[in-house]
Amino acid sequence: MKLLLTNIKKLVQTEQIAQLKICGAEMAKLNNLDDAYLYINSGIIEDFGTMTEIKDFEYDQQIDVSGRMIFPSFCDSHTHIVYAGSREIEFIDKIKGLSYEEIAKRGGGILNSAKLIQDISEDELFNLSKKRIEEIISLGTGAVEIKSGYGLSTDSEIKMLRVIKRLQKEMPITIVSTFLGAHSVPLEYRGNQEEYVNLIINEMIPIIASEELADYIDVFCDKGFFTVEDTDRILLAGMKYGLRAKIHANELANSGGVQVGVKYNAISVDHLEYIEDAEIQCLLNSDTMPTVLPSSAFFLNLKYSPVRQMIKAGLPIALASDYNPGSSPSGNMKLVMSMGCINYKMTPEEVINATTINSAYAMGLSETHGSIARGKVANFFITKDIPSVEFFPYAFGSNLIDRVFINGIEITQ
Ligand code: NIG
Ligand code: FE
Repeated sequence: MKLLLTNIKKLVQTEQIAQLKICGAEMAKLNNLDDAYLYINSGIIEDFGTMTEIKDFEYDQQIDVSGRMIFPSFCDSHTHIVYAGSREIEFIDKIKGLSYEEIAKRGGGILNSAKLIQDISEDELFNLSKKRIEEIISLGTGAVEIKSGYGLSTDSEIKMLRVIKRLQKEMPITIVSTFLGAHSVPLEYRGNQEEYVNLIINEMIPIIASEELADYIDVFCDKGFFTVEDTDRILLAGMKYGLRAKIHANELANSGGVQVGVKYNAISVDHLEYIEDAEIQCLLNSDTMPTVLPSSAFFLNLKYSPVRQMIKAGLPIALASDYNPGSSPSGNMKLVMSMGCINYKMTPEEVINATTINSAYAMGLSETHGSIARGKVANFFITKDIPSVEFFPYAFGSNLIDRVFINGIEITQ
């Protein structure tokens, strides 16, 4: 299938030479082409340029994009999309004054979702998750990471990971899978956390690795959850089985999570509300992508990560949705962009880089996703008629996405 898109008002985030990630001051730059064409062959971007230099392409379909823009699809590098039920009762508890940690201590929070996972069938869990993926596709996402972590027993963790594997096969978007057995300590292991860590290391990781159920391994390394020592042991065990780290760190306290993540060459460390100079220095000497989750900090009323300071120091930043029932019941990456601008003082160019190329890097996908570059997967969307690129994050409550393409094929909604 050969697709030619012409008269594109602005083709956003083009790259002549594709980069793996964009750091520091470079994040404020974007290469956009005015009055452009885009040529797709068999699901891959074959060429693009301005209308004045268009070639005599062969095509099966032509779309006139006059008046509208094309953006590369969002890459959402941190989600917990596979879950059962919802947690709006805790939403009320939070409104009435309980904190995320207090709810967790009472056996709620993640453990509530874990109870629901135990009894649901793989088919039901698949169908619920499929609907959420269809929703995020319509919101412009073209690649997503999904974590386990509501199983918290060997069988239920495997159930979640099998569902993710089936989604990888049956859904059109690119999906990477992360094993998050260390998301919360189950009630029966309270007071005996080390035993649960042993179960993860000695039983869960070997099975998950042998069935090739995960690409990455995650730990919620934070106050009240898993310690730096637990995290160190789990990441070391994961590494031995070829699972690269990608962790939750420094959301609730200055937990030491960033340092232990960097020690194991994590592909990303995520949340990062509690960041000081030591963490920034540590990240500067690493290949780890600092990832911030604006909708989760917003939903939980957390303090905001010092993103401006991190960019000023020369770090790259990725933004992701953290779509999950407890701290971010939304996978809307356009809203994440707007929150990046409003709450973290990022510019529109910076939030576009953070939700595309840098978040692709945070999933190990930036060679194939995250920009309009020759040879990359043709995941993109056509906007409605908008006056400028800046209008896109500015109009934070409007759906400005008109048509979505994944692997060069239009997704009909
Ligand atoms: O990234 N912080 C840890 N885990 C999730 C929340 C999961 C939940 O509350 O269900 C997060 O915010
Ligand atoms: Fe998370």
